[in-house]
Amino acid sequence: MVAAAALVPAVLPGLVPAVSAASREPVAADNGMVVSAHRLASTAGVEVLKRGGNAIDAAVAVAYALAVTYPEAGNIGGGGFMTIRLADGRETFIDFRETAPAAAGPTLYQDAAGKVIPGQSTRGYKAVGVPGTVAGLELALTRYGTRPRAELMAPAIALARDGFVLDSGDARFLASGAEDFARDPGSAAIFLNRGQPWPAGHRLVQSDLAAALALIARDGPAAFYTGPIAQRIVAASRANGGILAPGDFAAYQAVERQPITCEYRGWRIVSAPPPSSGGVVLCETLNILEGYPMAALGFHSAQGVHYEVEALRRAFHDRNTQLGDPAFVKLDVARFTDKGYAARQREGIAPDKATPSASLGLPTALPEGQSTTHVSIVDKAGNAVSLTYTLNDWFGARVTAPGTGILLNDEMDDFSAKPGVPNMFGLVEGSNNAIAPGKRPLSSMSPTIVTRDGRLAMVVGTPGGSHIPTGVLQVIRNVVDYGMDLAEAVEAPRIHAQWLPDEVAYERFALSPDTMAALSARGHQLVEMGYHNQIAAIVVGRPAAGPAAADDRPIGAPANGATARLYGVIDPRLPTGSAEGY
Ligand code: DON
Repeated sequence: MVAAAALVPAVLPGLVPAVSAASREPVAADNGMVVSAHRLASTAGVEVLKRGGNAIDAAVAVAYALAVTYPEAGNIGGGGFMTIRLADGRETFIDFRETAPAAAGPTLYQDAAGKVIPGQSTRGYKAVGVPGTVAGLELALTRYGTRPRAELMAPAIALARDGFVLDSGDARFLASGAEDFARDPGSAAIFLNRGQPWPAGHRLVQSDLAAALALIARDGPAAFYTGPIAQRIVAASRANGGILAPGDFAAYQAVERQPITCEYRGWRIVSAPPPSSGGVVLCETLNILEGYPMAALGFHSAQGVHYEVEALRRAFHDRNTQLGDPAFVKLDVARFTDKGYAARQREGIAPDKATPSASLGLPTALPEGQSTTHVSIVDKAGNAVSLTYTLNDWFGARVTAPGTGILLNDEMDDFSAKPGVPNMFGLVEGSNNAIAPGKRPLSSMSPTIVTRDGRLAMVVGTPGGSHIPTGVLQVIRNVVDYGMDLAEAVEAPRIHAQWLPDEVAYERFALSPDTMAALSARGHQLVEMGYHNQIAAIVVGRPAAGPAAADDRPIGAPANGATARLYGVIDPRLPTGSAEGY
């Protein structure tokens, strides 16, 4: 009989996987890596790196390319966040979250009787926040990029003008928006063929989008915010019950912020600050879990899941009751990422009993949308970009402003449609995330970078609404606590908890029947869930952080500045995407 180990080929001399992986191996490369939700966008990014552009340049090219090839979530009509770590150790964060139009107020989505009107914050022009993507990419490029905008946008313009051939994953995904596209002539003209979804093999040409991109390439954000594109979007909004005005576009500003940081068992997490809740949820959860022997308890043991759920319950409670746009709400973020605070939280966690969520206090949770996408990039010098941007729902508000080819977001749904109304438990939600003119809705997007001993170790992020911080958390923990290689860490089934609803959701096969019985005995409500994430991740140095052979390099970039080998993985939970390196 052949020993199991002999069946596992070494990836490279000296780089034997730390575990015998049941997953395919991560994509490996020496000079640069791009992981995104669309193969053609990943390729556009790698080409930039090959020509000597840095990770920020590549991120700009990928983001514009995704706006063409991945209309599900790639966008210029939405917004997002970019976490950047430069090779010299500087860390920063670009916030290009959408803002509420000036005419928006706390009762925007309520009827005269004060009842929330279903669908108004999710479909059509009234759901649209002022897009931030063009301003955000420009801010990142002018401060940290090296290449001209027009050069980086050229692949996106070509993909829109000349079209690209839909593969089966593209076609399947696009078809999921067909019903709503049929109601919007601007979208139907592009994404449908006489009312029917385009089949695989069709070349999808987007001429209006090509023209809009060419205008932005030439004139920069002015084309979008004060020029013809803003005019067209405002005209479409006014003709269709929306409230966008020229002043909303003219006033839009992307903002550079300090990322949130924390340490977990010697690993340093760099992630998204408010108006995202991502970094807070991630850090607070990790801080609480650091006090438990998670590695010894083992992957998805009943006790380990119990502690993880109790930590998430508390972190999401803080998220939902405390956080909002820092320009509007007074926030003491450091309090939530403090180790002492986590220790006090642990005192309230019983090892054998679930805490009823309602006992923690006032709720604010609202369901979040289902469409976002993440890009992870590392270049040859060791600059890293973790970029998550979104239209909120897949295809956003499912309206395309005529003449622009631009699908618009429904990010307004991330606000609380009605603060102060008792939820199903009779509890009242706070007003931190109420709608106000110019305000950014609270987000869960968590573009994250991890370092070890001062060196780049990991870039990770995902779509998934409120499942974003839990997805990122579990991939990091799978690597750090369980020694999985990156592919195993991404593919491993996940669980999710978010305070309210008071339940533990699990992917199929995540929990065995006896584990579920042990969790039920502690008082947890278990429900099976579908797939919410598409993790796009890179690790640096070696594919796993687990026990290494004596001659293995440690995970993380080499201390001597030598080029590190890079390993990229795209989550197989969605039918598109690729990790590509060179
Ligand atoms: O900002 C947020 O948290 C949401 N708008 C993200 C939505 C999302 O990730 C849906 N993706 N599947």
